[in-house]
Amino acid sequence: MESNWLVNQELCKRCGSCVDVCPNRIIQFNDEGHIFFREDRKWECFQCGHCMAICSTKAVQVPELSYENDFYAVDDSQDNAYRAYDNLIRTRRAIRNFKQKPVPRALLEKVVDAIQLAPPGFPPCKTELTIVQDMALIHQAQPMMIVFYEKLVKMLKHPIAKQFIKKSAGREKYITLQNHLLPLMEERLPDLKSGKEDTILRNAPAMILFHANRNTENYRADLYIAVTFGLLAAHALGLGATAMDIIPPSIEKDTTLRALFQIPAENEVVASMILGFPKYKYQRGIKRELPSIQWV
Ligand SMILES: Cc1cc2nc3c(=O)[nH]c(=O)nc-3n(C[C@H](O)[C@H](O)[C@H](O)COP(=O)(O)O)c2cc1C
Repeated sequence: MESNWLVNQELCKRCGSCVDVCPNRIIQFNDEGHIFFREDRKWECFQCGHCMAICSTKAVQVPELSYENDFYAVDDSQDNAYRAYDNLIRTRRAIRNFKQKPVPRALLEKVVDAIQLAPPGFPPCKTELTIVQDMALIHQAQPMMIVFYEKLVKMLKHPIAKQFIKKSAGREKYITLQNHLLPLMEERLPDLKSGKEDTILRNAPAMILFHANRNTENYRADLYIAVTFGLLAAHALGLGATAMDIIPPSIEKDTTLRALFQIPAENEVVASMILGFPKYKYQRGIKRELPSIQWV
């Protein structure tokens, strides 16, 4: 819609902030000091909204975005924002023990709201969510996941089948499967099958599946960043959560599980998080060190 490109010259203060923040340098000053959109670069606009978000006078307009519907006001007056954030990330842990009570829909909606604010690599957002709020559905899925892992363990130990997995999974995933998942699952399967412990779904009262259309670009990174936003939001809301890589492969590959969770056929289930009210409160955090931090 050509008519939606606009720099309102009466409102524009010519501060140049939109010129600077446009990631694709689509906005420029002309020789008279007026701001305008470069015709030859308009096609590069991916509606990130930076130019409209930064303009103090709402002078800039790009197609498909409206000040009324697509933006919200920000309050940056909180001088304790860093302290709150620091405390949040220092007190978060992966929660795998939950009170056996459902998570109210209103809290799940807040987690979803936070996930929607996660930055995409480039718009439009590819992240699709399935929020499982029905504990019965999670219990129903558990035996099918166990069967999936029983079969996978057998295949990983079979000389021909494991070559097939190596080829289709790729090097990083295959090494994880052989070195991490195989020994763990061999150990865990008897207790999983007898119902003694649930090391897959952790008796979680709620779960969020992160998936995306497999024909879109660069969606995996977006999905994991979305998970991170969800984990932090859950913790801020007094919930506990854990990212769970053990869950998605079974849903991705098993048609019954796909149907149970109503995953669209064209989507790949990449990531998941379980959440609920934590059973325990941690008394202290754990220090961590990265293998390398270089300042150059
Ligand atoms: C990408 C990712 C995948 C994970 N997958 C699992 C999983 O399948 N099962 C599990 O019990 N924990 C899983 N976790 C949780 C990690 O084991 C946990 O975050 C890690 O041990 C650090 O502990 P903390 O989160 O309490 O600091 C995963 C975490 C991440 C970031």
